[in-house]
Amino acid sequence: MIRLAHADDLGLLQDIERAAGEAFRSLGMDQIADDEPLPVDELQTYVAAGRAWVYVDGLDFPVAYLLTDVVDGNAHVEQVSVHPEQAHQGFGRELLHAARIWARGHGMQRQTLSTFRDVPWNAPYYRRLGFEMLDAGSWGPELARLMEHEAELGLTRWPRVAMWRPVVPPR
Ligand SMILES: CC(C)(COP(=O)(O)OP(=O)(O)OC[C@H]1O[C@@H](n2cnc3c(N)ncnc32)[C@H](O)[C@@H]1OP(=O)(O)O)[C@@H](O)C(=O)NCCC(=O)NCCS
Repeated sequence: MIRLAHADDLGLLQDIERAAGEAFRSLGMDQIADDEPLPVDELQTYVAAGRAWVYVDGLDFPVAYLLTDVVDGNAHVEQVSVHPEQAHQGFGRELLHAARIWARGHGMQRQTLSTFRDVPWNAPYYRRLGFEMLDAGSWGPELARLMEHEAELGLTRWPRVAMWRPVVPPR
């Protein structure tokens, strides 16, 4: 089940992030695996804004989470992570759907994200969920700044792409 994240969840979200990041080692992307999760105070800002969702197990413990930012007026997925022991059950897809419903409720048009183009569980995964590549010429100013920041952090050692899907799915 999906619910909004609470302040009590935040340590677990960091654990999920570290565990989910391990998958990047298999592609030689140790820098990504070693990337520290967001600190608790930053996670708390998402909780306070009602833009952090968790997928919980039967004991109400988070096993996956998603954070959304508002970027150029669109719902931008800052992070989606599923604990590897709970992967391949559609939790990532359902969290992305929940954030899309939230965006619809807030009158937004697009759900956007940035991700690694060639990592099988990144851009190809999102493409299967209806996301399409967003050319640099179509980036709004905030998304452009965000992509620039990712380059400064060294993430573009591996090709990064921006993607989007409409908040209301096409019929
Ligand atoms: C990407 C992620 C959120 C997907 O969550 P999930 O709940 O496992 O995904 P779903 O169950 O909705 O979809 C599963 C599909 O994702 C893809 N996928 C997930 N993990 C994969 C992997 N290790 N290799 C290849 N494809 C993978 C497959 O298409 C898979 O389909 P399958 O289960 O039929 O094989 C999760 O794998 C994760 O947390 N990964 C590490 C962190 C990360 O990369 N986050 C995104 C940063 S932009």
